Amino acid sequence: MLRPSTVRLSTILLLAAAAVFAANVLAADNTRLPDGPGRKLVEEICSFCHGLARLKGQAFTRNQWENVIKGMVSEGAPVTDEEFSLILDYLEKNFGPVEEK
Ligand code: HEC
Repeated sequence: MLRPSTVRLSTILLLAAAAVFAANVLAADNTRLPDGPGRKLVEEICSFCHGLARLKGQAFTRNQWENVIKGMVSEGAPVTDEEFSLILDYLEKNFGPVEEK
C-alpha cells in the first residue's frame, strides 16, 4: 500500500510534468512563422536542430540567407535543390532587411 506522502509526491511530479508540457506547447505556438509558400518547409526542416526562434528577428539579404542555408546544409540540414530555392524565397520575403522609407 502507498503511504500518503508517496502519493502526494507523485501527484506533484505529475503536475510539474503537465506544466512543462503546457509551457512547451505555448512556446511552440509563439514561434509560428508568417504564412506563405515555403513556411511548412522552413518549419519542418529549420526546427530540426534548433528552435525557429533562431530565424525570428533576423533581417538578412537574399545573399546572406543563401549563405546561412548553405551553412545549415553543411551542418547536415536535409534540403534538396528545389526546397533550397523555396526556403530562400520565403526567408527573403519574410525575414529580409527592413526597407528604409
Ligand atoms: C543539421 C542541423 C541544422 C539544421 C537542419 C538547421 N540548422 Fe541552423 N544552425 C545549426 C547550428 C549547429 C547552428 C549554430 C552554429 C552556427 O551559428 O553556425 C545554427 C545556426 C543558425 C542561425 C544563426 C546563425 C547566425 O549567424 O547567428 C540561423 C539564422 C539558422 N541556423 C537558420 C537555419 C535555417 C533557415 C534552417 C533551415 C534551412 C536551419 N537553420 C536548419 C544547425 C542546423
